[in-house]
Amino acid sequence: MTKPKVLVARAIFPETITRLEQHFEVESNQTDAAWSKAELIAKLQGKQGAFTTGSERIDAELLDACPDLKICANMAVGYNNFDVDAMTAHGVLGTNAPDVLTETTADFGFALLMATARRIAESEHYLRAGQWTKWAYDMFSGSDIHGSTLGIIGMGRIGQGIAKRGAHGFGMKVIYHNRSRLDAGLEAECKAGYVSKDELLRTADHVVLVVPYSPASHHTIGAAELALMKPTATLINIARGGIVDDAALAVALREKRIAAAGLDVFEGEPKVHPDLLTVPNVVLTPHIASATVPTRRAMADLATDNLIGFLTQKKALTPVNPAVLATR
Ligand code: DGY
Repeated sequence: MTKPKVLVARAIFPETITRLEQHFEVESNQTDAAWSKAELIAKLQGKQGAFTTGSERIDAELLDACPDLKICANMAVGYNNFDVDAMTAHGVLGTNAPDVLTETTADFGFALLMATARRIAESEHYLRAGQWTKWAYDMFSGSDIHGSTLGIIGMGRIGQGIAKRGAHGFGMKVIYHNRSRLDAGLEAECKAGYVSKDELLRTADHVVLVVPYSPASHHTIGAAELALMKPTATLINIARGGIVDDAALAVALREKRIAAAGLDVFEGEPKVHPDLLTVPNVVLTPHIASATVPTRRAMADLATDNLIGFLTQKKALTPVNPAVLATR
């Protein structure tokens, strides 16, 4: 019996390739070459499955050109690289990688918050540049985490993880805004109170964004929202590029309308808005919130399980458009 054919669009753990090869004929990209859309389409000819990472846009144009494709398995919880409606219309299953990265990503959100509020990156650059010649009472004074008010926009699993760290670990008052309010049990577990977005922006000392990207969440934070925030506040984006208007944020940081920001995701990444590179009061990291070895392995394993499950038994663990499963 011939094996189904699968394309792995980006470099991945060699063990992942080995495991996929037990079930599929695999073409991979272990040199991590940057394929254009036309190259991706050419590589997908005759392939039933694609192992994707969130950087490959799967839309109607690609799907029209790849009639053999049946599943795209994202090694990411976010799947805004999928045009889900187009995939469903083409009968192509999309899967993502939720849960396995929740705690790791919440850890990182907190790390970025700490680094930003306590000016760790800025002071480290100063020291490395040989500028530290004497101690001063006001050197790199930041803002406190403990006892402050943490505002979380987007209270899914990762938002809840950050809330618990803040409330239980640092004695923070936690407020949140979300499309839907959590049930009373979850609110109590997270020690978090529901407020409007405006109230959150006005009252939080630290605002953390964990909302998924969609056209509706585009520029959740723009100039108007930044204007509501306290001048002493920090803003953390570990959600997706496009949730924040990066140009407006750079202006607010330069003019000290807010104190500082920590960003792991950017509009149009891997490009970064040039103005963000020149303001000192921002910590910038290259989309690494889920990057620990065990978590990245777990994400790769889940994407692999989805490919194997679907292409060998018509089953998938974490479908984003489960309607397709019913039609297969
Ligand atoms: C995710 O899983 O969505 C992370 O942002 C990594 O892409």
